[in-house]
Amino acid sequence: MAYGGYSYLDYKYVPDKDNDFVVLFWAKGSVGIEKIAEAIAAESSVGSWTKLNTMNDRVWKHYRARVCWVGKVTPNSGFIKIAYPLEHFDLKNISQFQASVLGNVFGLKELDELYVFDISFPITYQRQFSGPLKGVGGLRRMVKTIKSGRPHIGTIVKPKVGLTPKEWAHVAYEAYMGGLDLVKDDENLVDQDFCKWKDRLHETVKAIERAGDETGQNHLYSCNVSDRYSRMIERIDYLNEMGLQNNIVVMLDVYVMGMSTLQDVLEHTKKYNFATHGHRAGYAAVNRGNFGINFQVYDKFYRLLGIDQMHIGTGVAKMEGKPLMIKRLHDIADQFRLDEKMYLGSLPMEFAPHINPMFSIASGGLNAGIVDAAIALHGKDTILQAGAGVHGHPGGTRKGAMSMRQAVDAVMNGVSAPEYAKKHPELAQALKTWGYVNPQGVLKELEYATKNTERLTQIALKKGRWKMASI
Ligand code: 3PG
Repeated sequence: MAYGGYSYLDYKYVPDKDNDFVVLFWAKGSVGIEKIAEAIAAESSVGSWTKLNTMNDRVWKHYRARVCWVGKVTPNSGFIKIAYPLEHFDLKNISQFQASVLGNVFGLKELDELYVFDISFPITYQRQFSGPLKGVGGLRRMVKTIKSGRPHIGTIVKPKVGLTPKEWAHVAYEAYMGGLDLVKDDENLVDQDFCKWKDRLHETVKAIERAGDETGQNHLYSCNVSDRYSRMIERIDYLNEMGLQNNIVVMLDVYVMGMSTLQDVLEHTKKYNFATHGHRAGYAAVNRGNFGINFQVYDKFYRLLGIDQMHIGTGVAKMEGKPLMIKRLHDIADQFRLDEKMYLGSLPMEFAPHINPMFSIASGGLNAGIVDAAIALHGKDTILQAGAGVHGHPGGTRKGAMSMRQAVDAVMNGVSAPEYAKKHPELAQALKTWGYVNPQGVLKELEYATKNTERLTQIALKKGRWKMASI
């Protein structure tokens, strides 16, 4: 088998965890799966569609990709692992990495489906990144939750857009007074005419001070600065001039702004000692179709680059993503050693010791009735955010916030939400309005997957990507 005059198949090759990138693909096309694998390896490394007179032994030896495993599902489809040597890449340049591995290959006409499940980044590559500045520990110090170890709780002010700065800040104040740690802008609110960014900032800072005087807590505001690069820098400079490091978390719509812009913006936030909040709006555009990239890849990049708290979905509420995948995204955020679970389409990887854990954010459709299940899935090192689940509470924002706080307190006291609700009317009202999701469902699904790794792997290898049990 050869593509463009060379064979990239090297099934005996064992990737070196310090020096090789490994990429796990799913592919389906009009030619045999081995040929597809070779085409991908060629196009994303040193080759092309025909033999090159310019190829030499040095290039072939040092820079080519190697197909080290093919899990054939049908003659024309299957899972593929390709290893890329570190020397292939411009190590300080994420755009170059994306253009190689996540680039032209998606356009090859033999392909009907191409999906990158996961990438394992070698330790040596990780040295160029500094990771989260604050991460879980730093954010806990800001909110003073190191001792309790409870999840942080936040809200997205709703309506998403349209409130004036004073209206917005009043909602924020009510949320803080109801016991929340964090309020945030929605992903589509930045500097519109009805709610100018600076006016909203000033009003919200007043709300933080007023609420802090009454609650004795340090409250946070994830302030969306997302825009073209120069305007983001101006906004971050302004936040620094105001000395707001203790209360502002710089919010970034990380996916839509692109990785290289994000990298520069994060250097700026780190210089000024700001924590950062990553919203992933838009990623699903490349995650749900025949051609795509799983969020695992972005989640890893965002931690390496240094986002401190990152949206990963919930696994139990309105956004796509089954529980096992969300658990994996959470593990990418806060573990150092990641296992391989083939049926999930994931690869083993170690984070370098200097890459701090990032707080995962469970957000999208949460309310107090889902908190037990969300914590069962994400654990306590997480941020629970509810927008409509706070502002849609029949008693209003403050009571909605109280219901979220009570649901978290219930878990911290080892009591189920329905039990705790007997003495907490705000929680009772939330459960009456939206119902209760029993965490046992999520726990059983996790247990089943853990105990049946081999069986689920075989199912994946027999039935392919779209029948995979857990994605
Ligand atoms: C988000 O930013 O995650 C969404 O705006 C969540 O909103 P919701 O809690 O109302 O679903």
